[in-house]
Amino acid sequence: MTAIFINGQSVETGDHTTVLQVALANGFHIPHFCWHPELSVVGNCRVCVVEHEGRGVGIACNMPISDGMRVLTDSEPVRAQRKAMLQFILLNHPVDCGICDKAGECSLQDYHYEYNGETAISGDAKLHSTKFFPLSERIILDNERCILCSRCVRFTREISKSNVLGLENRGDSMLVRPAEGRSLDDDPYSDNVIDICPVGALLSRSFLYQARVWYLEPTPSVCPGCARGCTVQFWHRKAEWRLSGLDERHNTRVHRVTALENPRVNGPWICNKGRDLPELLDRPRATQALQKGAPVSLMQAIETARGLLDQAGKRVALVSSWGSNEELRAFRNSLGDYFTSFVKPDHLPLEGEVVEDDLLIRADKNPNTRAAQDLFGTAAAEIPDDTELVLVWGEGVDFGTLPRGVKILFLGSWLLPENGHADVFIPISIQTERRGHYTNFEGVVSPFEACQPHRDGVIDAETLFPLLSAPGGSASGGGAA
Ligand code: FES
Repeated sequence: MTAIFINGQSVETGDHTTVLQVALANGFHIPHFCWHPELSVVGNCRVCVVEHEGRGVGIACNMPISDGMRVLTDSEPVRAQRKAMLQFILLNHPVDCGICDKAGECSLQDYHYEYNGETAISGDAKLHSTKFFPLSERIILDNERCILCSRCVRFTREISKSNVLGLENRGDSMLVRPAEGRSLDDDPYSDNVIDICPVGALLSRSFLYQARVWYLEPTPSVCPGCARGCTVQFWHRKAEWRLSGLDERHNTRVHRVTALENPRVNGPWICNKGRDLPELLDRPRATQALQKGAPVSLMQAIETARGLLDQAGKRVALVSSWGSNEELRAFRNSLGDYFTSFVKPDHLPLEGEVVEDDLLIRADKNPNTRAAQDLFGTAAAEIPDDTELVLVWGEGVDFGTLPRGVKILFLGSWLLPENGHADVFIPISIQTERRGHYTNFEGVVSPFEACQPHRDGVIDAETLFPLLSAPGGSASGGGAA
């Protein structure tokens, strides 16, 4: 086993091959811009310098380890060189942190205060470059803030393999630009370059100037956009930073979605569909229970649904592939004996979206088909004409395809025309209002947490199912709102 000394402390190198990797794995801080654990090493930002005792200063990201080598991460020569590099990197930078979306998450801002902290020593006017360059429909580029680390270029070459971005010109005229004849719009993973940009050069149009990041907090969750089940973070306003001038929806909405690194599922990446989840979650919600289209109390709707269940002969359930593991088990335990159950897709691929690829995107656009099919089988839904009651849980069912005259009990979350066409409609909560787990297509179980308040008039499916099967059940239990 190879060992090296970092700041006089002996550390084992494990599988790592460079000083930077060993240092980070053992809790030593070394600043870095261009290095990223998933990308190739280019060694162009030069802030990761360390001192190899007896050999001088060099960049840690490309310094191979050798048994017994002694490295200093914070010696005087190291600090002096980092300070000089930061002066150089900031030479033409606008230092407009006050209006930059990256402020609060910017490595350049952090390193400047850590290793430089002084105003520019150059007396020359800063060189200006392109502001708001439209890199795609989703991303704009501020070339004055760009430090040319090339992470974004390498991402499109090595991870998404769209080969969309390149560097043109030389010296202080160098620019990140789309490669000729290519568009970043064609890369379904393009928004990852916003995350890996160490400064505020690459900006999301949908999040631009929406919130300072220190007003937000992340909640761990799972992307429901396909059967991969990528782990994500939903960013929403901290309770103490909700504003009286904003309505409830704006105070509690999900402002952005970022990847939550998970080596077993998605690594540090997610696709653009996951970034767009706020649009899906912002659709108008159904919060009113209905009986043949007429508003009724939640309790009344549950009572009527129980009556339908008791009276019907042949019953079929179309089970949601967006239900959590907990909800699916609650359905099986409470109502499994009442119904012949089939798992249905709630969502199908949208026109124009990438249906499947060999990185993350799966053709099944539902997060929990695997768990649902483990409980209820893989058979396609068959609803005999003499069926008397169909329970529809979630989206994706055209009521026009159900047997004529059949009673419909519909459990849904969104304001849809079908709600009023059901005999009984019961509004249920969505993923961001409750906690639970999904099982992805490979059998990996991932948890999600609540990050939005429960809507009035809405009940958790997990709470509802036992009430539907219990004689005289009451909706006043936990989770009912
Ligand atoms: Fe080593 Fe950029 S991180 S040179």
